[in-house]
Amino acid sequence: VEKREFLYEGKAKRVYRTENPDLYLVEFKDDATAFDGLKRGTIAGKGEVNARVSAILFRILEREGIPTHFVELRSPREMLVKALKIFPVEVVVRNVAAGSLAQRLGLKEGTVLKNPVLEFYYKSDELHDPMINEYHVAALELATPDQVELMKNYALQVNEILARVLEPADLILIDFKLEFGLHHGEMLLGDEISPDTCRFWDRHTKEKLDKDRFRRDLGKVEEAYQEVFRRINEAVGEM
Ligand code: C5P
Repeated sequence: VEKREFLYEGKAKRVYRTENPDLYLVEFKDDATAFDGLKRGTIAGKGEVNARVSAILFRILEREGIPTHFVELRSPREMLVKALKIFPVEVVVRNVAAGSLAQRLGLKEGTVLKNPVLEFYYKSDELHDPMINEYHVAALELATPDQVELMKNYALQVNEILARVLEPADLILIDFKLEFGLHHGEMLLGDEISPDTCRFWDRHTKEKLDKDRFRRDLGKVEEAYQEVFRRINEAVGEM
């Protein structure tokens, strides 16, 4: 597959067409942003870690019956994916209070939630990705009720599969964000699943091994990304 014209650039990825209209090439960058783009930086080796971690996890999810956009890694930081029309909705699942949930509800970071919490956010740079619910999704026609139901079911299944898969890697899945899209009318899991889009804590020390190290200037950022790849690859990887 050949890399053809550049399609668009996000904060952490570049997307290209290929000679096959059904396939896009996603290039994972080392660029990092946080706090709605206010904080910018580079995390050396991040692109490769995120591509490889995503590849491992997408493969496992496919095997477990979750359809994803993943086709193959073309190089350590280039992923071949099925072309998607992405829903302008981010689906967040949380198992432990952290980040914006801890803040909004006044929960101590690390509080184990009685049940997984699922949230929707409206992908809009101008509006700074406000949290919305299913009524907003329907009112704004961001997705149909059936599509919302499917996204919720997949997201909660992904949570169970990932939590199980990360156990032998001694990682706790605190929370994560998913994006879905349509490929010839079929709902597929898209985007990435990586230390950029998930919170991972060490099971024993509760050390943060994810983008929070960058967001909060905790140091050892590169090391944390490498550590997540090393552990997941060792526990479950094949790449
Ligand atoms: O910031 P917040 O606590 O709401 O984030 C919840 C989870 O979703 C975190 O794992 C975070 O990395 C992820 N997230 C993301 N992209 C966003 C917002 C949140 O990957 N735009």
